[in-house]
Amino acid sequence: MALFRAIESAGPRERRLFEDRQATRFLSPGLRAAAHAARVPGLRLAIERYIDRRWPGPRLSGVVRTRVIDDFVLAAVADGCTQLVLLGAGYDTRATRFDSVASVAVYEVDHPATQARKRARISPPPPHVRYVPVDFEHDSLPNALTAAGFDPGQRTCLLWEGVFSYLTPEAIDATLAAIAALCGPGSRVLITYVDEQALTGTGAWLTAVRDAGEPFQTGLDPARASEFFFARALKLSGDESTREAAMRFGVAGAENIPGFYRLATLET
Ligand SMILES: C[S@@+](CC[C@H](N)C(=O)[O-])C[C@H]1O[C@@H](n2cnc3c(N)ncnc32)[C@H](O)[C@@H]1O
Repeated sequence: MALFRAIESAGPRERRLFEDRQATRFLSPGLRAAAHAARVPGLRLAIERYIDRRWPGPRLSGVVRTRVIDDFVLAAVADGCTQLVLLGAGYDTRATRFDSVASVAVYEVDHPATQARKRARISPPPPHVRYVPVDFEHDSLPNALTAAGFDPGQRTCLLWEGVFSYLTPEAIDATLAAIAALCGPGSRVLITYVDEQALTGTGAWLTAVRDAGEPFQTGLDPARASEFFFARALKLSGDESTREAAMRFGVAGAENIPGFYRLATLET
């Protein structure tokens, strides 16, 4: 994702979906070289074409999802959310990418190993960000967040981006119960998930995540998503695929994005 964001950020101002100048700091030297090369317009197109031919879908899906979620966060903060929680934050840089987010308390929750890697590349830590190491499979999210200062009485914007599909159903249920309990009225929640039909697919994207040792393991039937979340005290207010979002934005090549990667917006 950091590579995809870095390449998108190198595109022309009038065409790129967002700018994430910090993305390159998380890349290995080889990928950083590719991100630097992408600043040369002809090379950027060649790099994008190479990635899209080998792995049709994930790059465009990833950059579109970044833009949709950027818009979601900015709207939530403008609307009065005073806390931002990034569950499975990874190399998300929203805590420092937007001026308006500097005035809210940001809680970056992540697996201790990923968080340690990220923190090694961010110094000094931004004053409004609290890092909360949690393993969703084993630790108590409510305990960790409240110990870090999170206030369930405030309106919260919470993202769970790119994580659901990698967890067991038990860890998902425990995390959703925590989200419903921690996010008070007026909070905004966005969760990405994978259509369960994709779990048995054989496309290049699915094969690539399997080969990387991080297969999608849990999905959801979009036709039953509303019922699924309602049973966990969350109300589904929107649900679209990254392909549909790409079409809304008029992204070239949107039709090549598989339709299984989805963005669900929820209220408590
Ligand atoms: C694909 S990355 C997504 C990162 C970021 N949200 C984004 O969309 O760019 C998956 C994230 O889930 C986290 N993750 C996976 N399993 C986890 C677990 N059991 N507990 C906590 N975090 C986990 C990883 O550490 C990583 O940050």
